[in-house]
Amino acid sequence: MKPCIVVLDFGGQYTHLIANRIRRLGVYSEILPPDIPKEQLAGVRGIILSGGPASVYGPQQPRYNPDIFSLGIPMLGICYGHQLLALHFGGQVRPGSRKEYGVAKLQTKSNQGIFKTLGGTKEVWMSHGDTVCKLPPGFILLGQTPDCPIAAMADLSRKIYGLQFHPEVTHTPCGMKILEAFVTECGCERTWTTEGYVELATKRIREQVGGRNVFLLVSGGVDSSVAFVLLNKALGPERVYGLLIDNGFMRKGEVAQVSQYLGRFGRLTVVDASEQFLDAVKGQTDPEEKRKTIGEIFIRIQNRTLSELDLDEDQWMLGQGTIYPDTIESGGTEQADRIKTHHNRVELVQELIAQGRVIEPLASLYKDEVREVGLHLGLPTDLLWRHPFPGPGLAVRTLCAEGKEYFPGWRKIEQKVDCIARGFHLEARLLPVRTVGVQGDSRTYANPVVLIGEADWATLEKVSTQITNNIPEVNRVVHLVTPARLCTLVVKRCCLTKNRLDLLRQADFVATEQLHKENLYRDIWQMPVILIPVSSDGEKESVVLRPVCSADAMTARFAEIPNQIVHRIAELIVKIRGIEAVFYDVTHKPPGTIEWE
Ligand code: XMP
Repeated sequence: MKPCIVVLDFGGQYTHLIANRIRRLGVYSEILPPDIPKEQLAGVRGIILSGGPASVYGPQQPRYNPDIFSLGIPMLGICYGHQLLALHFGGQVRPGSRKEYGVAKLQTKSNQGIFKTLGGTKEVWMSHGDTVCKLPPGFILLGQTPDCPIAAMADLSRKIYGLQFHPEVTHTPCGMKILEAFVTECGCERTWTTEGYVELATKRIREQVGGRNVFLLVSGGVDSSVAFVLLNKALGPERVYGLLIDNGFMRKGEVAQVSQYLGRFGRLTVVDASEQFLDAVKGQTDPEEKRKTIGEIFIRIQNRTLSELDLDEDQWMLGQGTIYPDTIESGGTEQADRIKTHHNRVELVQELIAQGRVIEPLASLYKDEVREVGLHLGLPTDLLWRHPFPGPGLAVRTLCAEGKEYFPGWRKIEQKVDCIARGFHLEARLLPVRTVGVQGDSRTYANPVVLIGEADWATLEKVSTQITNNIPEVNRVVHLVTPARLCTLVVKRCCLTKNRLDLLRQADFVATEQLHKENLYRDIWQMPVILIPVSSDGEKESVVLRPVCSADAMTARFAEIPNQIVHRIAELIVKIRGIEAVFYDVTHKPPGTIEWE
């Protein structure tokens, strides 16, 4: 199948999201490297240049083929792509003095071309440093934001467009209209569907697997469940062997529930390996190290089970329910910066991939597409709408610490942060644990800020955005829910233990149960509940609620759960012995990732 619109990947975290959005519009779209020879683009109707972490003036620029600019077909540059277009056609780009992340107000200046249906002020999502400061000859201004004088531009006669903001993320509500207008300008037929994907995937699975069988590790989440059913459908139950490894990091009651459910669709065995996992991560505090160990143990158990089952390794392939965001966060496309290693991409799996022994039938899809594929396969909605849950499960939600409190320079940062917070009658401190963030297109690892004092959601959002926009060392902000005050914040030296996991399992259970009771479960994309070894006396622990709204996990807004429900959840959690405080994460993604590790 030939793509109608090609997305050239300059390494942005959202590159695949662009292709996903174009497919959602019914147009087949694929991602290709920017140095692709011109001949390979024959028949393509439009090109999108993605965002990326480089600067158009920097040494790290991805190589690209300049012939792409003279193909005579419509082009759309997004973020880095916008700057590259501006520079190539004779405009100017200046290095950003101030980084801009998150929501911005776009003032439309013309409603022509891809802005045909737009007008007035629109909310858009920004994540950039450099800025286009002079239009290239022949281009007109389509829109600007207070911090970005040329946020959208067009050469209407050649149908070349540039956008500094990201139309592909759901937090740019008018984004789909802009992309739809671009697809129309390209003259593409809108015939692509996820139902068609099931057919295409079935054919590809049969071709790739040939005469072999598939061994699939099932986690019980939506992705591996859909992959399991899809593989069973394509190959028949006698050629698919599902294995659910209980790593001891699952939620309360989850293993029994999942094995009972999926057992109806094919062959599924459960192995209790919780002790082995816990042993392997003993003493580890570094998140990357934990993740890597867990991924490797997975493979070791898989190999051991394979040999115990006496399955000929050459006759079997490894199946995985990897979906697109899992690969991008591991630096999945050629250019993307690594955010963190996903367990589906650890070294041993990479070796198997190189040997052609891994099959991932959902690897180019996003969660929304996976759920639709699941519906076409006849899976019930309550299974498809379960919140996403990471493979390493509660292991990446149980933070460990060596007892060192802060990264260097924290005092100065704390003062700057407190100064902003006081403007909103709040107090601010740094939490003595570190968490992962994604700022621009790079991974960061830093101490979150805690806001102390009463405030509504709008205020918390404002403070959080101001802090992360102005203080690049901070990637996350949380609000203390209960108790009302905490004078000291002490970190306890600890790693992963069964007791700590059980503590988190209970807190997670209590919080999730309330979401169901309040009918909020479906409105929320996912609510990680995180255990942090922080308290006022350094003995107890605390819990962070991280409910987010998202459509694909690539970007997210913190969810605004009604205040009385948040307090009810918090009260129930602090009743659990060993928990002192409850925090609520008020950070969007970017700059904070959904998970804390
Ligand atoms: P982040 O934290 O990167 O998460 O914003 C994006 C989505 O990916 C999930 N996630 C994982 N899933 N193994 C998984 O199977 C992992 O190691 C992993 N890390 C993050 C996360 O829950 C969210 O839905």
